[in-house]
Amino acid sequence: MNIAEMYSSLPQYRCWLNYEQFHDTADTSLEPYCRTIFVPSGFKVLQSAAAELSAAVKGAFRFSPRITERDDGACGIVLAVDEDSFPDGCDAFRISRSVDETRIYITGANENSVLYGAFEFIFALGCGKSADKIEMLSHTPNRIRIMQQWDNASGDIERGYAGNSIFYKDGKITSDFSRIRDYARLLASVGINYISLNNVNVHETETKFITPEYLPQIAAIASVFSEYGIRVMLSINFAAPIAVGGLSTADPLEESVQNWWRETADTIWSYIPDFGGFVVKADSEGRPGPYTYGRNHVDGANMLADAVAPHGGIVLWRCFVYNCRMDWRDRTRDRARAAYDNFMPLDGKFRSNVVLQIKNGPMDFQIREPVTPLFGGLEKTNQMIEFQVTQEYTGHQIDLCYLVPMWKEALDFDTFARGKGSRVSDIVSGKLFGSPLGGAAGVSNIGDSPAWTGNPLAQANLFGFGRLAWDPARTSEEIARSWAVLTFGRDSKVVETVTSMLLRSRDVYEHYTCPLGIGWFVNPQVHYGPSVDGYEYSCWGTYHYADLHGIGVDRTAATGTGYAAQYRQPNAEMYEHLETCPEELLLFFHHVPYSYRLKSGQTLLQYIYDSHFRGADEAEELKKDWESLRGRIDPQIFDEVEKRLTLQVQDAIEWRDVVNTYFYRKTGIPDEKGRKIYP
Ligand code: GCU
Repeated sequence: MNIAEMYSSLPQYRCWLNYEQFHDTADTSLEPYCRTIFVPSGFKVLQSAAAELSAAVKGAFRFSPRITERDDGACGIVLAVDEDSFPDGCDAFRISRSVDETRIYITGANENSVLYGAFEFIFALGCGKSADKIEMLSHTPNRIRIMQQWDNASGDIERGYAGNSIFYKDGKITSDFSRIRDYARLLASVGINYISLNNVNVHETETKFITPEYLPQIAAIASVFSEYGIRVMLSINFAAPIAVGGLSTADPLEESVQNWWRETADTIWSYIPDFGGFVVKADSEGRPGPYTYGRNHVDGANMLADAVAPHGGIVLWRCFVYNCRMDWRDRTRDRARAAYDNFMPLDGKFRSNVVLQIKNGPMDFQIREPVTPLFGGLEKTNQMIEFQVTQEYTGHQIDLCYLVPMWKEALDFDTFARGKGSRVSDIVSGKLFGSPLGGAAGVSNIGDSPAWTGNPLAQANLFGFGRLAWDPARTSEEIARSWAVLTFGRDSKVVETVTSMLLRSRDVYEHYTCPLGIGWFVNPQVHYGPSVDGYEYSCWGTYHYADLHGIGVDRTAATGTGYAAQYRQPNAEMYEHLETCPEELLLFFHHVPYSYRLKSGQTLLQYIYDSHFRGADEAEELKKDWESLRGRIDPQIFDEVEKRLTLQVQDAIEWRDVVNTYFYRKTGIPDEKGRKIYP
């Protein structure tokens, strides 16, 4: 028995493609159409679409549709590519009904788009839509919607909280592709069109993935994804010419190095004709890169870009480049400045098949950060936004933290780069500056746990990343609600409760952890649980500077690190001044006395106390909400979530007490409301 068969009956494994329960939700007006699926033969992605529709129909109406390529005039669903109707070159589909109401057409700009249309139809079926409401047109502005695995050949996953890799074990690539196929289905269903298969930190074994030793197996994985329109990419080691090529240098301006990469690319594409290209973490956290040879990121990225260009490949070059050997004593230095300082001078110098992959914030996936000023700074460079779906700093998939609202904030942020309304979403899509490539990258949160994401509720983040990457205009709430219906069925108490829990969860997590944008109060290395000074005297550039008078990082131009001035106006001015700085980011931009009065009238210190008491209470409410659903939810899912909410409540209490005691000891000022703070 393969892994998929072993797990396939589990609702937690099926996620939002749990077709079994469509029987309760599907509207019977769609049934006549579902009897026949018309699909041209010879197109593998269209065949996947038909197979998927067929499985969903079986769940909904308990019969298997007839699948045929011959149009015999019967009532049915027609799958077809129709390039001419979608001229702008982006992925797009339409679901429409024939005038005589005998046909539902799912047409798309290309095969992939038809598959996305088929899944949208499936979602409509699962959400109980009727035939007269089925019509829709959908297109994505984002050409690259990539899921990035941080999986290592050892089978571990860097920052993985859901078990081990589904791709690798003990240095070997798995031979059971059944689960990889199901992963491809999940990703395609939310519009993902690329996946990178290995960690951005590329170790010895993964360095060899680009060689004939491993390429046959990588190709086998790629062909599974390819059936679902997903192109595989690999993270590469910039020093691979030395590590596996036998050269003495990896200098990007050396001809031997350039030739090596060109030949390597030729080899890769000979195994994998639809290979996507490379993801590169260079000169970052100890990884090799062009700086080693006195070259810069343009030299490095363009060299790789030239190697992959003949094959239509792309290079996703990460901007997570900063000095991780900082001196905490030196308050003039600021890690937040790093991405901008490193990459702004290079704007306009990258090849057209290079995309800079930029984390949403200037630091590193904290629960609250401003949007990086590189968005709005760079104008002549392809850019994409990187989000962390895996919950590294946001609760390890133990604590509930629905991240879509945070991602929305980043995408909606107005950079003012071309005047008012210059949103990040329009920059990464390429619309604002007319860049040919862009999109969104998500660091995956899945592993080999039965629910994929460990915590079944963390599936909402995986679903949400794809839904948002396809259409950044979707709201957090509509994504949460549709996920809840597809996952749990139509019990409205369940749907309402789960949706509300998801939508509250990010604020709850923020309340009991790091206040007002300061971040980093976590236990070093593991990044779970409180340690206010854990990173305070380290080399990582992640400080809060709390003393007996106040806390926060002065990033103003006037008296601080000058980071605030990296933004365009009026954002730079807004962040520069305490009075206009959005309060949720106050401590990110300013060093503030504890006596400072927030808009609510509370002092900063009292706010810290209040929010931590509140957050711990709110965590308990989340748990109570979940308990109220006992008996209404698949028991395994119920238990998995309950177990974690119990831990979350403990975690929140620990955070509350550690943080409150820390500030009480610093200040000697008690809680105005007389609640228990340990001395
Ligand atoms: C974070 C994370 C690392 C990861 C890095 C990256 O710092 O803790 O594990 O490698 O981000 O994005 O490259």
